[in-house]
Amino acid sequence: MKRLTYLRDGAFALMCAVVLAPASSQADGLDYALGKALFDRLWTSAPASTDATDGLGPLFNARSCATCHPKGGRGTFGEDENGRITGTGLLLRVGDETGAPDPVYGEQLQILAVQGLKAEGHMVRAADGAVEAEGLNYGEPAPATRMAGRLAPDLRGLGLLQQIPEQQILSLVDEEDANQDGISGRANYSANAEGETVLSRFGWKAGKATIRMQSAAALVTDVGLSNPIYPKHAGDCTEAQPLCQSAPHGNSPRFENLEVDTQMLNMIVTFVSGLKPHKSTADEAGRDIFIETGCAACHVPAFTLANGRIIQPYTDLLLHDMGDDLADGIGDGLATGREWRTPPLWGLKYAGRYLHDGRATTLREAIEFHGGEAQRARDAFRALAPADQDKLIRFLSNL
Ligand code: HEC
Ligand code: HEC
Repeated sequence: MKRLTYLRDGAFALMCAVVLAPASSQADGLDYALGKALFDRLWTSAPASTDATDGLGPLFNARSCATCHPKGGRGTFGEDENGRITGTGLLLRVGDETGAPDPVYGEQLQILAVQGLKAEGHMVRAADGAVEAEGLNYGEPAPATRMAGRLAPDLRGLGLLQQIPEQQILSLVDEEDANQDGISGRANYSANAEGETVLSRFGWKAGKATIRMQSAAALVTDVGLSNPIYPKHAGDCTEAQPLCQSAPHGNSPRFENLEVDTQMLNMIVTFVSGLKPHKSTADEAGRDIFIETGCAACHVPAFTLANGRIIQPYTDLLLHDMGDDLADGIGDGLATGREWRTPPLWGLKYAGRYLHDGRATTLREAIEFHGGEAQRARDAFRALAPADQDKLIRFLSNL
């Protein structure tokens, strides 16, 4: 039972495995429960008395996946009177228009560090709603570098988005806007774990191909844990951060000389992929208005999976230019600094903040920020009778 060596609370997880097991076989049910334990695990800095749980950082944003995705859900955060962001549900993406990382700060601003090292800085909400860095501790970033907020998405239902047949998504691509509806969805492509370039579905700019790639990237940049896909033990530390590079790490021969080995990554992926989507309680009337207003051109209501199951995520998983206000100037794979992947709308009833950097506090505000390819739909929303606007908002808040 090598699996159990990963657990400090093996007995509890085993019990959960029996109770929670959503999957067909008992082995999958066990992996789901062990994956949940790893998702919830608070990692500690190396060296620690047990090498199974150390390796945190040296720079990191949170000690566990669950800190940012509570119960697998959307991240939460606060803002104090000076606009300083508190909590971990938001992070600051760092890069230039091509998506290249900053030579000093890397791909992400780490707001925490192990003892003896300085965190990179913290985040504040700017007057225009965007998120900015403050108190940078490692000097100036490169002139081309931009930083922008990213809200931790709800992970429930991602396993189903992964299963949407590629052809169904690609049939929605309209790069040259041939049908002249002002909307030209583009697909992003990136490498999967096998190194093949495939349709890329995850992250706010669809920069990560699969749940496995996104989870591995989260391990290394968010928590600072080396893994089979991103083996750097120093996580997102750059060459310009030598103290961070030489800090103790948790790579262990028991775990393929990594901090998180293949089997642990597999369990995390099994857990995330098995998270069920929320059940919608939205009504048909609101749905009709949603479609008539043009929202469904990007937030595509339904897909049929290969096994015949119909899912209703309200996304096309494609990239759209959303106008100047939302543009962040950071590329991601094929996505430009103006493009965003249509986010799924299922589970909105559990969201308290909206859009990629959580700038909108209400659904109306989220709609008002729609520009670029979505401007026509936004204008159509504005032109609705107040009662119909209310119906549409009620529909969204029950998804
Ligand atoms: C510091 C907060 C934070 C931590 C810790 C964190 N995440 Fe995330 N997660 C995010 C953010 C922010 C995004 C969106 C990233 C982007 O678009 O660039 C995200 C995106 C994801 C996605 C893709 C979601 C989608 O809708 O496409 C998955 C899957 C995911 N995280 C899994 C994990 C796993 C597994 C862990 C633990 C190893 C983890 N995350 C840890 C903040 C976090
Ligand atoms: C051209 C494509 C497009 C159209 C049309 C469109 N949206 Fe969106 N929508 C997006 C994208 C892309 C985002 C993410 C933008 C961001 O986060 O910066 C988004 C975000 C949202 C969000 C926030 C989701 C979240 O997870 O925080 C809501 C709510 C929403 N849209 C509702 C609507 C409604 C209602 C309409 C019709 C009035 C509509 N959208 C029309 C592409 C579109």
